[in-house]
Amino acid sequence: MNIILLGPPGAGKGTQAKLLQERYHVGQIATGDMLRAEVKAGTELGAIAKSVMEAGGLVSDDLIINMLRKRLAQDDCRHGFILDGFPRTVPQAEALDAMLAAEKQDLRAVILLKVDEDVLVERIAGRFSCAQCGAGYHDKMHPTAQAGVCDKCGSTEFIRRPDDNPVTVKQRFTAYNQQTAPIVPYYQGRNIYYEVDGMADMDDVTIAIEAALRKAGIPAPVAMSAD
Ligand code: AP5
Repeated sequence: MNIILLGPPGAGKGTQAKLLQERYHVGQIATGDMLRAEVKAGTELGAIAKSVMEAGGLVSDDLIINMLRKRLAQDDCRHGFILDGFPRTVPQAEALDAMLAAEKQDLRAVILLKVDEDVLVERIAGRFSCAQCGAGYHDKMHPTAQAGVCDKCGSTEFIRRPDDNPVTVKQRFTAYNQQTAPIVPYYQGRNIYYEVDGMADMDDVTIAIEAALRKAGIPAPVAMSAD
């Protein structure tokens, strides 16, 4: 299954992609996470990406497409992938189609998470994640079960993204509206395009995505029995 989760900053793409990856056992590809890893590792790409991300703009198509091409060749994508944060421009969407065609593969579903801008601002403002395992949380909407302790790995270290400040967030919305929103019509004419209410509770969003996947001919995985 090759699927794309689309949506503006804070729509819940990363949250849902991680859940789906665990359930469907396919590769999760978050280009934002990949770029943050490059920045942390101090690579040449990371140095270029850092200033662009801090300004809330988009990293150039050539660099991103090259990074994605290498990622798609990795083992965990053999049985499919969930893309979160790519494509973000029409040239990126066209490049993905060409890469898949070269491998005789296709896209099974493109799912847009629709969320109002005021809710997005609130979500981004309260977001933090575990510094050890990357699990995502929100101050009000998804706090850790025990204050200051990661539910998944027990770490007590958390981080907030530097581009989650109000000035950069505004620029990220502008980049989304001007450069990314135009890819919706690129997919809308195909019978693989679905819209989901991303304002609903996280569990309900997952249920709605899985319903869209079933319509796309991708059944929910059967839960393994304990014995
Ligand atoms: P990226 O990391 O992709 O950021 P983004 O698209 O702005 O998306 P976010 O990660 O902010 O939001 P999300 O939709 O994943 O929401 P989340 O699940 O965290 O990109 C960062 C930068 O990298 C870009 O600005 C750009 O510079 C560069 N870049 C990346 N890809 C690129 C590309 N292809 N081309 C060029 N440049 C690129 O949820 C947000 C919060 O809400 C969380 O706290 C979560 O707990 C909470 N939440 C989620 N769902 C719900 C719900 N249903 N109800 C209540 N709370 C919820």
